[in-house]
Amino acid sequence: MSTPERLGSQRDCFDLPDGVTYLNAAYMGPLSHAVVNAGRSGLERKLHPWTIGPDDFFDGVEHVRNLFGQVINADPDGVALVAAASYGLAIAARNLTIDDGGRILVLDAEFPSNYYAWADKALREDGIVDTIARPADGNWTDAVLERIDDHTNIVAVSHCHWTDGTTCDLARVGARAREVGAALVVDGTQSIGAMPFDVAEIRPDFLVTAVYKWLLAPYGAALLWCSPEHRDGEPLEYSWITRDQAEDFPTLVDYRTAYRAGARRYDVGQTSNFAMVPALEAALEQTLAWSVDGVASYTAALTGRIAEHAESLGLEVAPAEHRSNHLIGVRLGEADPVRIQQALAAAGVYVSVRGDSIRVAPHVYNDEADVDRLFEALRSAL
Ligand SMILES: Cc1ncc(COP(=O)(O)O)c(C=O)c1O
Repeated sequence: MSTPERLGSQRDCFDLPDGVTYLNAAYMGPLSHAVVNAGRSGLERKLHPWTIGPDDFFDGVEHVRNLFGQVINADPDGVALVAAASYGLAIAARNLTIDDGGRILVLDAEFPSNYYAWADKALREDGIVDTIARPADGNWTDAVLERIDDHTNIVAVSHCHWTDGTTCDLARVGARAREVGAALVVDGTQSIGAMPFDVAEIRPDFLVTAVYKWLLAPYGAALLWCSPEHRDGEPLEYSWITRDQAEDFPTLVDYRTAYRAGARRYDVGQTSNFAMVPALEAALEQTLAWSVDGVASYTAALTGRIAEHAESLGLEVAPAEHRSNHLIGVRLGEADPVRIQQALAAAGVYVSVRGDSIRVAPHVYNDEADVDRLFEALRSAL
C-alpha cells in the first residue's frame, strides 16, 4: 500500500490576503472559493424558479447525508440537516429520558448551546445538571469517568473543550456511559472536520455539529447524527418535508402521520435551502478530499509549534497528552488578554480570547510562517 501524500497548505483555495494571519477557525471558518462558488450557483437557481423541480428539494440534502456519513463513519440514514447546534441539542434533549433526580453531566464553562438545553430539561423533569469542574491538568477524560455513576442519565460533552481544545476521550466515556445505561450526547462543533470522529467506535446516542467552523461551510446550519434507537423520536417542528411521501407534491394535503425514514424526521423546515445545501456539499467534499486525518496531522504540526513557542516565552499551555491537534489555549499570565488580542489584530493576527487565554485555532490554510508571525506579534505585545 502506498503512503498517502502529506497534505500541504491549502491557502490558495481561500481568499486570505497577504498580511492576514487568520488563526481563528474556532470562531468562524473562512469559506473557500469552491464553497462560495457552489453557494452562489445555488442562490442563482432562484433567478429561474421554474427550473427548480421536486427532486431539487431532496437530492442535495441526501448527498449531504451521504457525505457527512463518510466524515464520521456512520450511515447516512441517521443524519439530519438542522438549523444550529442548539437545534440539534434540543432534539437530543427532547428525546432522551431522565429519572427523577437523574443527572446530566456537562463540562464546566461549556458552550451555552450545550448547557441551556440540559438546564431546561433538568428544570422541567426534576433532574440535576452536574457540572464537572475543569481539571487543573487538563484531563477531562478522568474527571468525566470518575463522575459517571448509576445516577447518571445523560453525558453531554464535547470532543475537546471549546475554550482551549483540551480533549475528552469519547470512546472511553461512551463505554462507561453505556455500562450505567446513560446516553452520550456529543457537541462536535469544535472538532468535527479537524479531529477524527468514528461513530462506530464512539457510539454516541446523538452527535451534533454546527458546520461554520471546522467544516468551513456557511453560517446557518448544523448536522445531527443519531443512533438507530432514537430514529422514531419527536421532531421539534411540524414540517411537511419530513413526512412520508413529501416528494409527491400533488398529494401533500393527504396529511400523513408517518415520517420519512431514519433521522429525516428531525430535518429543519426548508431543509432544501438552495444556497446552503450546495455550499455545504462542496464544504464536505473538500473535507473528504483532504481527509480528516490529513487535516488533523497538518494542524497538529502547527499546534505543536505554537506550544513550543509559548513555552519558550514562559507561557502555559495544556500538557501534550490532553491537547487537541487543532485548537490550543495559551495562558497569558498577568497580561490583559483583551489588550493582547487588540495588539495582535493590529498586526494582522486574528485569534480569540477565552478567559485568561488566547485561543489559537489553525486550519489547512495556515502554515509555520503564520505561527511565527503570531509569536513575533505576541512578543512585542506582552
Ligand atoms: C462548542 C460549541 N458548540 C456550539 C457552537 C455554536 O452553537 P449554535 O450553532 O447553537 O450557535 C459553538 C460556537 O462557538 C461552540 O463553540
